Amino acid sequence: MCGIVGYVGPQQAVPILLEGLKRLEYRGYDSAGLALLQDGGIIIQKSAGKIRVLEESIKGMQFDSNCGIAHTRWATHGEPNDTNAHPHTDGSGRISVVHNGIIENFRTLKQYLERKGHRFNTETDTEIIAHLIQDNYQGDLFEAVRKALTQVEGTYGIAVVSLDHPGEIVAARHGSPLVIGSGNGENFIASDVSAILRHTDQVMYLEDRELAHITADGFNVATIENTEVTPEIEKIEWSLEQIEKGGFSHFMLKEIYEQPLALNNAIRGRLNFEEGISRLNGLQLQMEELLSIQRIIITACGTSWHSALIGEYMIEDLARIPVEVEYASEFRYRSPIISDGTLVFVISQSGETADTLAALREAKRKGATGLGICNVVGSTIARETDGGIYIHAGPEIGVASTKAFTSQIMVLALVTLLLARQRDMSHEKGRQFVDAIQKLPSQVQSILDESDQIKRLADMFSDHNNFLYLGRGINFPTALEGALKMKEISYIHAEGYPAAEMKHGPIALIDENMPVVVIALKDQVYDKVLSNIQEIKARNGRVIAIATEGDEEIKRLANHVLYIPKVMYHLTPILSIIPLQLLAYFVAVNRGCDVDQPRNLAKSVTVE
Ligand code: G6P
Repeated sequence: MCGIVGYVGPQQAVPILLEGLKRLEYRGYDSAGLALLQDGGIIIQKSAGKIRVLEESIKGMQFDSNCGIAHTRWATHGEPNDTNAHPHTDGSGRISVVHNGIIENFRTLKQYLERKGHRFNTETDTEIIAHLIQDNYQGDLFEAVRKALTQVEGTYGIAVVSLDHPGEIVAARHGSPLVIGSGNGENFIASDVSAILRHTDQVMYLEDRELAHITADGFNVATIENTEVTPEIEKIEWSLEQIEKGGFSHFMLKEIYEQPLALNNAIRGRLNFEEGISRLNGLQLQMEELLSIQRIIITACGTSWHSALIGEYMIEDLARIPVEVEYASEFRYRSPIISDGTLVFVISQSGETADTLAALREAKRKGATGLGICNVVGSTIARETDGGIYIHAGPEIGVASTKAFTSQIMVLALVTLLLARQRDMSHEKGRQFVDAIQKLPSQVQSILDESDQIKRLADMFSDHNNFLYLGRGINFPTALEGALKMKEISYIHAEGYPAAEMKHGPIALIDENMPVVVIALKDQVYDKVLSNIQEIKARNGRVIAIATEGDEEIKRLANHVLYIPKVMYHLTPILSIIPLQLLAYFVAVNRGCDVDQPRNLAKSVTVE
């Protein structure tokens, strides 16, 4: 949600800020703006719409600024118009603020400030912060920000400049990520490293309730209580190339095609075929601790919640440990039972999702060991878990998650193998599992090589307004994920259902205009799924089947068949989701949708 970037140093700030904003655009894209310190004043430019609208609006203007802050917004308070776009200023126009997060007590603060004579121009909670800083200002910007933040409840990542402090940026974080980039005679602040990676790979992640005072020469960090913090600089391992499109028309397509590589990265160094086991040192758990696990709770949001469901099938079937999967947003607000021996896994691509982070904290508060499955190294969730496993999928920029999903399932398969081999799974079964896992990257590649066929199918169905996705067993979550991909990027209404549940409701929708995507693999529920297909056909529904290579029988029933290679049942979702990702992608492109930045969505949801 919302992207922040700031620069102070010898270079012109505008190109650095605009480029940084473009790299952060996946975080929010309903309005954008920047504040520049120039000639003893502050220049503010902002506009509703994407960053290119802002860029257009300042074309031809001459700037000469070496210090500025910028923002791309995902609206929470106030509609996304020019006025509500960030930066926001205090009444005097001397202080300018960009903000990511939500100020929960903003109404109380607004009344308090109004009583003191402050007048407000926008509907945003952010404007309050600017006024509050001004209210606390006595000549020291850092101190004014610090004091203001002691009055604020809610979440924030903020960057502040003031015309009384040229060449200074004050930044602070509580619940919304911020990273300081350390350059040579220049420094940066950003919501994530992609915005500044072109300039530096040396960064410091701010922790919650920390503030930074940043100049061209260096930066100081302190807590909100004003205790000094010694900065720890980390090196970013991602390359610039990895965060660019590399010849693909969209990030999403690039990321779909990166899946063989991402899956290889997820298993690299973690499998031992001889012993039929996996090694996951990041879990930081001793053998006895792993053996004493009585119950596992997995909590996540969105696509990551779907991979959690697949994990439930795998772990319960093969390791025989009871697993519960819960939306993080629900988990955090009930009183979950965390008994002895309960392990809580949180799954998050970004490692920043507000509800997932809160669920992790709630689980830990109740005494659970909290483990993470994350993609972004150094993210908040990754840092707050007791241990975990990085999926190593590389940066995922497309808002609709693809390679992170399959990599999460891959890591869950490794967890399953680890736990199962300590329990009932035999050496031989373990070796078969390892062997099957190792074949997956090339099997995914073989599906990608047949993408033309999926494109042709997409051409036939792009004008439909509804889709139904059905699956059973471990491919029920795949059906949910297939439907989510379709609705996220093409705005077609799509629902996923367990195939047998169809007759308890969705069957009423089926007629000749309803494409039904059925995952009908040669597994233990194959015959049952065929019966479900018969029920659809009897009502003139049009069936697109995802089937196992070599299955000729299905051709007689389904209108269209997309084949995937044969694989062990518990690993099938890694293959069956690939055609569904591509189908959604091609349909969205045909409909002229903005695939990488679908309307109303954001990649990293850091508000609840
Ligand atoms: C947003 C994204 C989804 C993602 C979900 C959870 O809704 O648009 O693609 O699955 O957040 O994100 P996380 O980073 O926690 O996996």
